Amino acid sequence: MSADALLFVNAAQIVTCAGPARARRGSEMSDAVIQTGVAVLVEGDTIKEIGPEDALRRSAAGVTEINCNGGVITPGFADSHTHAIFGRARYEEQELRATGVPYMEIARRGGGIHASVRDLRTRSEDDLFSLAQPRLRALASSGVTTVEVKSGYGLSLDDEIKTLRVIKRLADALPMRIVPTWLGAHEIPLDYRERTDGRREYLDLLVNDMLPVVAREQLAQFADVFCEPGVFTVDESREILTAARSAGLGIKMHADELSSGGAAELAGELRATSADHLAAVSDAGISALAAAGTVATLLPGTMLFLGKTSQAPARRLIEAGVPVALATDFNPGTSPTTNFPLILTLGVSQLRLSVAEVLIAGTVNGAAALGIADRVGQLAPGFSADLVLWDVSDVRELPYWYGAGRCHASWARGKPCHVHDLALAFRS
Ligand code: NIG
Ligand code: FE
Repeated sequence: MSADALLFVNAAQIVTCAGPARARRGSEMSDAVIQTGVAVLVEGDTIKEIGPEDALRRSAAGVTEINCNGGVITPGFADSHTHAIFGRARYEEQELRATGVPYMEIARRGGGIHASVRDLRTRSEDDLFSLAQPRLRALASSGVTTVEVKSGYGLSLDDEIKTLRVIKRLADALPMRIVPTWLGAHEIPLDYRERTDGRREYLDLLVNDMLPVVAREQLAQFADVFCEPGVFTVDESREILTAARSAGLGIKMHADELSSGGAAELAGELRATSADHLAAVSDAGISALAAAGTVATLLPGTMLFLGKTSQAPARRLIEAGVPVALATDFNPGTSPTTNFPLILTLGVSQLRLSVAEVLIAGTVNGAAALGIADRVGQLAPGFSADLVLWDVSDVRELPYWYGAGRCHASWARGKPCHVHDLALAFRS
């Protein structure tokens, strides 16, 4: 046994989410696999064995033991949709919306994404790194061990590349796994909107100037587009995403977030890895996602924060056979939260999913939304040693204590990722 092996013992429950190493759909989401009386053996960055505690203690004698003290172990969460690289907060927009000004109207007035773009462009790489690092640590402190981070507040060649370089530096500096996404198509910059051929010019900038640099410097694994009436049309999105795929990037989409415009249908047509938001998805869109096996990433925190009374049709998506993931959408405009368990709460209370369904949605299906479900998202031999020790004695408490911080400690690739109480977590 190698010196860096760890044996997790004395857990009330070990929730493995074990099963097929791919997106789970339909009734496959109904069992998170709760085990008792078992221990987890980690060797290096990999899960080696899960088995009866007594037997494993004997066969792994001498290995460093982590005493879980009656807590619960789950796989680390995969937060597959965030916009964590931004400058200042946008709290003034929350009050504006409360007085009845819609999100899209704030953007039309030059606020919203445009406000974050103006701000980000004034900031250095170092500044953005210093701002983002504690935000990602906050996500880690809520049980996230894998996080997707998008660009999208730069919207010029230099500012998008600057953002993606910050993401790369964060990936090197932090223990959590970071998956970078290029979202140069988050908005049409205001100056391009004002020019006659501006839309066409911005599309050309995206496809002919930004994309080649992103691909050549391997700065992103995915490309994303905000495909929504008033932002990028379906045809424009198809053009950008087709080019991105040819350049070797995977495809994600902001689809049918606020109004239905055929975005999910396009995600199905392009066999996107994920289509995200979907609060206004059509029946045809649901069928297209099911046929393509595209993961539907639902972001209930966004709808809650925007003050919407409706949410994405999670149950209909699951019944149609679409794999459903849950994510924070952490961003300064529509979802300024780093609390992943709160998203599980909304999954149960607003989307009306079961606890097992929200757990699979936050682990295996979150990993599938990033194309890494073959090695991330479940506790099973050969999988990445990404696990969280929760300060609860039953996993149903995770969505129950809403807004609470019950993540005691976490490990990503076998290394400490977040530690709330080192003495307790490492007592043997
Ligand atoms: O996922 N809808 C587009 N992007 C973000 C919001 C970005 C912003 O308002 O800054 C979202 O909701
Ligand atoms: Fe988003």
